[in-house]
Amino acid sequence: MKKFDNIKLCIFDAYGTLFNINSVTEQCLEELGNIAEPFTSLWRSKQLEYSWLRSLMNRYEDFWCVTEESLDYSLNYFNIKNDSLKINLLKAYENISCYEEVPTILSKLKERKISTAILSNASTIMLNKAIKNSKIDFYIDSCFSVDTLKIYKPHPTVYNLVLEKYNLNKNEILFISSNSWDVAGAKSFGFNVSWINRFNSKEEVLPFKCDIELSSLTNLPTII
Ligand code: LAC
Repeated sequence: MKKFDNIKLCIFDAYGTLFNINSVTEQCLEELGNIAEPFTSLWRSKQLEYSWLRSLMNRYEDFWCVTEESLDYSLNYFNIKNDSLKINLLKAYENISCYEEVPTILSKLKERKISTAILSNASTIMLNKAIKNSKIDFYIDSCFSVDTLKIYKPHPTVYNLVLEKYNLNKNEILFISSNSWDVAGAKSFGFNVSWINRFNSKEEVLPFKCDIELSSLTNLPTII
């Protein structure tokens, strides 16, 4: 497998890459029942769709607002009128947990003195809660939220936030995301990119492809 030989900084996307989106609705399986999977998928796709639409309309609201708006759409789509379920789902999103391999992989990067950062659509408050809840704050060196720019990924200014802080060449940086559209955005910006294809998804038909595809973060240390 291809290997990068000069990576000094690993930048992680948050949701779907470090943090397990399915763990949110898994906390409300009793209320959701057999619609849990399609509900989770619709909520996520609408959350992302709204982030892109708000960016294109230049009508930014933070990711917590977009997460709530997309949740409202999904509850309405499935004809669910249950305020306590909505509150529980938002609480579960705030307290999202990381994938099981994350702490071990981040600690291995720290041992090798490779810096780590999160670059996310999430607001700083959302990121801090997710990091704290997953007990990975010791391993994360920096957090970048699109909130400082008021525009969402994959706009190139978002990826550039990292270069404004770290005095590194793009070939010293590896961007890691499970979201194929985010992979295309980071590659278009010029980063080295690893796609964490957790669910064996099909590749996007976009001119910017990942450099290395992994099925989880477990083998990340072997490619840098
Ligand atoms: C993020 C979402 C898009 O963390 O996964 O930016």
